[in-house]
Amino acid sequence: MVGAPQVVLLLAALAAAAAAAALSPPSNPMPVYGCAGPPDSASTLRILPAFGPCSPLNPPISHSSADPLLSLADRDLSRILYLTSTAASGRRRPHRSFAPIAAGRNLLQSSTYVARASIGTPPQSLLVALDISSDAAWFPCSGCSGCPVSSPVFSPASSSSFSPVGCGSPQCSHVPNPSCPPSSPPSCAFNFTYGGSSIFASLAQDSLSLAGDSIKSYAFGCVRSTIGTSMPPQGLLGLGRGPLSFLSQTQSLYSSIFSYCLPSFRSVNFSGTLRLGLAGQPQRINTTPLLSNPRRPSLYYVKLTGIRVGRRTVSIPPAALAFDPATGAGTVFDSGTMFTRLVAPAYAAVRDEFRRRVNRAVTSLGGFDTCYDGPVAAPTITFAFEGMNMTLAGENVMIHSSSGSISCLAMAAAPANVNALLNVIAAVQQQNHRVLFDVPKGRVGVSRELCTS
Ligand SMILES: *[C@@H]1O[C@H](CO)[C@@H](O)[C@H](O)[C@H]1NC(C)=O
Ligand SMILES: *[C@@H]1O[C@H](CO)[C@@H](O)[C@H](O)[C@H]1NC(C)=O
Ligand SMILES: *[C@@H]1O[C@H](CO)[C@@H](O)[C@H](O)[C@H]1NC(C)=O
Repeated sequence: MVGAPQVVLLLAALAAAAAAAALSPPSNPMPVYGCAGPPDSASTLRILPAFGPCSPLNPPISHSSADPLLSLADRDLSRILYLTSTAASGRRRPHRSFAPIAAGRNLLQSSTYVARASIGTPPQSLLVALDISSDAAWFPCSGCSGCPVSSPVFSPASSSSFSPVGCGSPQCSHVPNPSCPPSSPPSCAFNFTYGGSSIFASLAQDSLSLAGDSIKSYAFGCVRSTIGTSMPPQGLLGLGRGPLSFLSQTQSLYSSIFSYCLPSFRSVNFSGTLRLGLAGQPQRINTTPLLSNPRRPSLYYVKLTGIRVGRRTVSIPPAALAFDPATGAGTVFDSGTMFTRLVAPAYAAVRDEFRRRVNRAVTSLGGFDTCYDGPVAAPTITFAFEGMNMTLAGENVMIHSSSGSISCLAMAAAPANVNALLNVIAAVQQQNHRVLFDVPKGRVGVSRELCTS
């Protein structure tokens, strides 16, 4: 395990350099990697923000609004609907469709963060979107009709280790809406929706390589056709907990343990990491129990017990924080939502206390209702989970418009017109924290870690 110590050293160097820079010009400059970042190493994968200046997507995602901040907030609405529909639908229909509220040519459900992987023999290099709230793994395959044209597709014909999965195989029983279209040999296919897109894929197996590890006979969806605009322009790697998920398929290698440090989406010179397996994980980290909802096995539910603004615990009706497997209510960590959403009474309580503390004229910007002209001395916000406090730093609390003149509280109420029961701890609030998902021990850990500048 050479990866983690290198990463830790680099982080230490970064922190030391930042501290030194505050006092005097650094005499010993830290390594500057630029967008390329340090290379992937054993079990540690670099992750890059899909929307930032270092996005590896080509062409970059265009924003539907002049201020990228507003586009990201728009995009979040449909992500919340995706999570809510996942939470509220029954076990037999985990991929229930919905109409996205925010329409846009490049409206994406998942690719807030992307990483590099390769598949096949010889390996074909692809980008994958990381989504902790999904179990699916898929790659656009050559000849795909309707797939975004912007990124490379996987060519099964060029891989000597590719094999279709038969209709009677156990894996075929785990995919949504399986079918067995005529082909020779007959192989398992399935249809599902992801955001507003309907996707048709065949189930296949091939060698998947990432973070220096190789996983033989990895089962994934080879996307053959898609209708709609929500499919990410690259593959998807779901880090949920279901039967065909990445965690299940790499159980012997990574034991269903991973952690990440999400970089700021504005970062240019350093990226975050996804660390897979037990090795190199933080040993001393505060944790909160992971809750299982058998009807929503993919989502990482935790018990949020209260929220503090500054030192004051705001008054939130217990129902707004309650975990209920039947309705899907509760609190989840999600990497694909940018800005935290709280159910309406919880958000109102946080916002009111936040405004009281800042005590200045409030304005709004798009979906953000607590914005200020110019810089703001914001109070801290603490999420109190069972057994763990997560106190947000300034960069996790306030977001600045691209012109820099307006700062907003980087949270919003859950959309009112859907089954608005889910609190989502989102990427901006998690950035520059190490977040550990330890499924065997049933816990989620959070500690502050500088992974981006
Ligand atoms: C990022 O790195 C480039 C060199 O690759 C440097 O010129 C630039 O100042 C750096 N930006 C920040 C914000 O550190
Ligand atoms: C799956 O999707 C394809 C292409 O969109 C469509 O032709 C087919 O009828 C669908 N099959 C099922 C079982 O829904
Ligand atoms: C969380 O913070 C509160 C207030 O400082 C404290 O009373 C409580 O013990 C902390 N909980 C944990 C688990 O550290």
